[in-house]
Amino acid sequence: MVAVAGPRPLLLERDAELARLGALLGQAYAGSGSVVTITGPAGIGKTELLAAVHRIARERGFRALRARGRELEADMAFSVVRQLLEQPVLSASPSERRRLLSGPARAGAGALGLAAGDSPASEFAAMHGLYWLSVNLADRKPLLLTVDDLQWVDRPSLSWLGYLGPRTAESPMLVVLTVRAGDSRGQAKPAAAVTDDPSVYRMGLSALSPGSVAALVRTELGSAASAEFCAACWELAGGNPLYVRELLAAARNEGLSGAAGSVPALRALASSAVGALTLTRLARLGPEAVSLARALAVLGSQTEVAVAADLASLDPAAAELVADELAAAQILAPARPLDFFHPLIGEAVYADLGLGARRLAHRRAAGILDRAGAADRVAAHLLASGPADDAWVVDRLSAAAETAWERGAAGVAASYLRRALAEPATLAERPALLRRLGIAEWATGEPAAIGHLEEALTEARDNTAIAAAAGPLANAYIIADQADVAVAVLQRAIARIRPTDPRLAWRLDGAAALAGLMDDRTAPAALRTVDRLQASLGESADPPARVLVAIAHAAMRRACPPEEAAQLVERALAREPYPPRPNASAAIVVTLLGLEAFETLQQLCDDMLRVRRRSAVQELIGVASFLAWALYRRGELADAEAQARWAVEHATGIWAIDALAHLVETLVERDALDDAATELQRMVPPLGSHTVVVAGYLVARGRLRMAQGRSVEALQDFLASGGRCERLGIVDGLYDWRTEAAVAYTVLGQAPEARRLARTAVEVARGFGRPRALGLALRAAGLAEGGQRGLGLLSEAVAVLEQSQAPVELARALTDYGAAVRRAGQRTRARGQLERGLDLAHHWGAHRIASQARAELIAAGAKPRRDAITGRDALTASELRVARLAAAGKTNREIAQALFITTKTASTHLSHAYRKLDVTRRSQLAEALVSKTPARGGQAAPIS
Ligand SMILES: Nc1ncnc2c1ncn2[C@@H]1O[C@H](COP(=O)(O)OP(=O)(O)OP(=O)(O)O)[C@@H](O)[C@H]1O
Ligand SMILES: [Mg+2]
Repeated sequence: MVAVAGPRPLLLERDAELARLGALLGQAYAGSGSVVTITGPAGIGKTELLAAVHRIARERGFRALRARGRELEADMAFSVVRQLLEQPVLSASPSERRRLLSGPARAGAGALGLAAGDSPASEFAAMHGLYWLSVNLADRKPLLLTVDDLQWVDRPSLSWLGYLGPRTAESPMLVVLTVRAGDSRGQAKPAAAVTDDPSVYRMGLSALSPGSVAALVRTELGSAASAEFCAACWELAGGNPLYVRELLAAARNEGLSGAAGSVPALRALASSAVGALTLTRLARLGPEAVSLARALAVLGSQTEVAVAADLASLDPAAAELVADELAAAQILAPARPLDFFHPLIGEAVYADLGLGARRLAHRRAAGILDRAGAADRVAAHLLASGPADDAWVVDRLSAAAETAWERGAAGVAASYLRRALAEPATLAERPALLRRLGIAEWATGEPAAIGHLEEALTEARDNTAIAAAAGPLANAYIIADQADVAVAVLQRAIARIRPTDPRLAWRLDGAAALAGLMDDRTAPAALRTVDRLQASLGESADPPARVLVAIAHAAMRRACPPEEAAQLVERALAREPYPPRPNASAAIVVTLLGLEAFETLQQLCDDMLRVRRRSAVQELIGVASFLAWALYRRGELADAEAQARWAVEHATGIWAIDALAHLVETLVERDALDDAATELQRMVPPLGSHTVVVAGYLVARGRLRMAQGRSVEALQDFLASGGRCERLGIVDGLYDWRTEAAVAYTVLGQAPEARRLARTAVEVARGFGRPRALGLALRAAGLAEGGQRGLGLLSEAVAVLEQSQAPVELARALTDYGAAVRRAGQRTRARGQLERGLDLAHHWGAHRIASQARAELIAAGAKPRRDAITGRDALTASELRVARLAAAGKTNREIAQALFITTKTASTHLSHAYRKLDVTRRSQLAEALVSKTPARGGQAAPIS
């Protein structure tokens, strides 16, 4: 905004807009904020209206913060958010600052580059953190946030505004944005993502009437100005207040009186556009004025006189006086730091410079700003300069990219790196720059990422650079469902490295094996590699972590006794870095899941979310998907559903398949079959893919079909999963296909097949020795065998599952066992089992099993209670998660922060939970949520 000193400017014909904005301020004050956009052509009065809103807001007790998009800063990370939020944080007292930066807001401060902040884990974490920073600010005093010239706002800030927008409805916060219509430069598209939100209030400004223009003319030229002159001004300026002002400035300059007779002279003046009018006025002020104005046009608004003087090659003292002359001519604003009277004037001066002159000026500006210590603006100028084979430029852009990356602005980092490469960078610098570019692009989902990582690998000249490029490239291929290519990449790297650095090659062997295990075409060879790696273990006291992980993971797939795998995983987790790199972490999590080591798994996932810095959003999705899987297996169905839903919403590539599988099976367990079917239909069945996660997808789909009574198709899915598992070297434990298929055969009356599969399952599971896997196998065998033998197996299944951490599976086994006991004629004994099954299923929200148990109880002559309307299992997944966190003593705000929702949403969920649980206070929640926990089932079974 132009800092015009002096009396309050005249604001004509904006009463309706001001009334509307005043009303929205009132609503915001009462706690329900909104977003408003003000659109109109250049000079129509958007900035002036914003200034008026600020005055009103301050009068009403708002904290009013402003920022402005600037053309040059469109490529700077969080430039606009910094303008808004930095000062309030810096000027806060120490205790106030602690309050402002509590919780996720710390990562927000990190995104702004504040010393007190934490580097955000991802762009998403930066958004979330900045959101909470603004909420914390608004807590004490309602907030007005205005952003002028949205079309030039940097992308990370735009993303933030998009994140903030829908959430303002629940905060005392009014956001007002202006957009210059018809400006084709700048970030028109990304800005549209903010302004097109349906909840945004839109306001367009119209031109002034002839009467208002006459008032402006008479303020400027005196009350004697004639009606003809005023009418001509209105007509020539099209009622645009800026054009009116420019025209009047020119008229004064020419000594026009405002009499009717000077209308022809006015018409002659107006034939030149605003820019030309200004440039003529500027030229008359002499070469020093021109130089200073041009310097300011290059440096951008809010530039210190000394800096502009340096670029203009003027003495700073002389420049102060030249700036005053420029202000008197209404070319600059009468303010310091320097600014143009109006942005359009700055644009005209800038446009008047030749392309080459601009590029050279930006390069010089970068040097001057660097010496002046304004490091963050240096990169923006370098982007506007021409490549000149200058090592300094590469160095600065590389450093700026690092800073942007640290602050969670991967897209900005990528643009700096691209420019650094174009300088051009030296051959020695290129591989690292290309690798960083590829990683930054991958983090933002840009398709060019893989190409740049490929180039980084090709150009890498030393072993470290080869390994550093091959890892992220392979990982990108794996997630893009091209694990076979990932393996080839790693193998090429290994071949280059092995002759000179066998140990590094050994590490990549581990990575290549892990990549190979992801795909059923490469898995057989990968398993052979694992065998070779296992034989090599003795060669060193300190084998690479990835080698340990690959061996452990393969052992779990083969259902070997779990002790060795558990020990290898432990050794790998003791290594640096902790948590391990993405690919290794993923393999460890899945290994722990197969081993039923849920505590370690949960801990690792928590640490991955907490510790890992700058991770791509794909990694967060991966963790969410794993957590969904683990939670499902542990019976935490509500949490599993919530994690899976989040992952499904954000995931791409193989994660999308994986997350969907866990969502579907969770919904089936909760008896939400229609919902599960709808979710499943959102994705074309990925059956052409060779990735390991399809094996899980098939089992999930089979479970849904089974529940829908489509047993034949369900069986096909289970068997297809089995075929894939076989090629992948997965014997059991991971996907349950064998036990599910055995049950399907039983349902279809194909007893011999059912028995054959179930017996194999039991045999494998006994060797593997994990209670969940064994319990599932025994249950399937019990159902397949039937009769006395079946009863014995089902009873054993119950006993084994008592030792597992799979309470829902225990409920299922109890229900089947109870049903078999009833059919054997022992109704009283049956009721005991069925009641426990019902209790457990009810407690864990496993509605499907609960209704089966209930039906069996009725058949056994009991009258089971029906308490699904209130109580714990009436809670939705979201309500249960919120209630749990509240029971653990978290405030609504902390809950909102943890679950990425707003405080209001958290409190709504919580009040629903209160009603359903029939409690009135937070302190009663814990009891209401656990009181009905059945006494047994679900204890840990440590791996001895
Ligand atoms: N309603 C009004 N009545 C009188 N003068 C006005 C009015 N609105 C704007 N002006 C004057 O017109 C000039 C241009 O206004 P302003 O800078 O607000 O335009 P803008 O819409 O922000 O343009 P841009 O798109 O170039 O930023 C200023 O000098 C301002 O004082
Ligand atoms: Mg403006």
